[in-house]
Amino acid sequence: MAEVIWSGGMVVVLLLFTVFSTAISLRVGYYSESCPWAEYIVHWTVAAHANNDPTIAAGLLRMHFHDCFVQGCDASVLLDSTPSGAPVEKEGLPNKNSLRGFEVIDDAKTHLEVSCPGVVSCADVVALAARDAVFLSDGPYYDVPTGRLDGRISLASEANSNVPSPFLSADGLKAAFAKKGLSVYDLVHLSGAHTIGRAHCAVFVSRLFNFNNTGSPDPSLNSAYRNLLRATCPQSGSPNPLVSLDRGSQFRFDNSYYNNLLSNAGLLLTDQELNQDSVTKGSVHAFARDEDHFFVRFTESMIKMGKIDLKTRQNGEVRLQCNAINNSTLSEEDVSTEETIEVSTSALDTKLEESGISMTSSI
Ligand code: HEM
Repeated sequence: MAEVIWSGGMVVVLLLFTVFSTAISLRVGYYSESCPWAEYIVHWTVAAHANNDPTIAAGLLRMHFHDCFVQGCDASVLLDSTPSGAPVEKEGLPNKNSLRGFEVIDDAKTHLEVSCPGVVSCADVVALAARDAVFLSDGPYYDVPTGRLDGRISLASEANSNVPSPFLSADGLKAAFAKKGLSVYDLVHLSGAHTIGRAHCAVFVSRLFNFNNTGSPDPSLNSAYRNLLRATCPQSGSPNPLVSLDRGSQFRFDNSYYNNLLSNAGLLLTDQELNQDSVTKGSVHAFARDEDHFFVRFTESMIKMGKIDLKTRQNGEVRLQCNAINNSTLSEEDVSTEETIEVSTSALDTKLEESGISMTSSI
């Protein structure tokens, strides 16, 4: 009997050991020794791209969200194909022809591979780029815990079923977030990301003319705003024109998104829903009054979202190229980023110079 209990106990201990030895825990400054320039390189790559195209910050912020909601924060959204041959996340409905900023991530990764090959995961690049996108848009700066690994699975079908649709009710949104371990408050905080960026007519035009097949527009939409939107997105017009998600300040990360909701001028149904729901509307009002409060809550929820379903050493790797999985399964030592890798600053200087990034520029 004692033997049975002992061997049972051993199995539990071994199982626990396996679980804990493969689990990943993130920490701020993860690359401070293995790739000291990592965050700097990502920052300046994002800054250089945003300088050429101020709209790109919004694309990068959205990319982190779409990455984390499908297979966890593992850069699965960046893959062009996988050995299964099935359509990848990029080709899913929420991403195709609308998710943007892939070239920025690839560019940052190219610079990183010059300085510290095989060290910095693409999932971390996506998370850092989202933070920098917020900061460069005059939003808050926050420390990003790093040490994520990249995944090897990417399925369009999973993007379709996990990224929330813009036609959901408040209850549908809450359920989509709860499925990822995020609360109703995270939902309100993170939706504030719609303070920057734009949307295609296709995702809100039904609100302007024939809402829920009623033959009338959405009654929760401000009528003056609706008329403005109709000029850009006529009934039976092209689904492609773009409209700012935050009228008036598309490039500035601020709290005007919540003030828009108070005037019934949220662009997406899912935005306006947050001011209709009895639980979420309290936070909408609080953030409309107090931008600093919004910034604190937004950054907390971003850090929480950045920890969804992390890959382990068993099913993750540090990809060498962000759009493709590595050819062979890396051993645990290969995946480990704990060892210090010498940083080639002269190679970095050349690369940054080539891409027009000045090491002496200020933010
Ligand atoms: C709450 C559920 C959400 C829904 C239903 C939703 C839906 C959408 C849709 C339909 C668009 C327009 C895409 C297009 O037409 O090209 C969009 C854009 C955007 N979303 Fe969300 N979103 C949600 C949450 C979030 C979250 C949590 C973030 C980030 C933390 C985010 C960041 C963005 C950004 C920055 C844009 C602008 C992208 C650009 O300019 O390219 N969204 N979202």
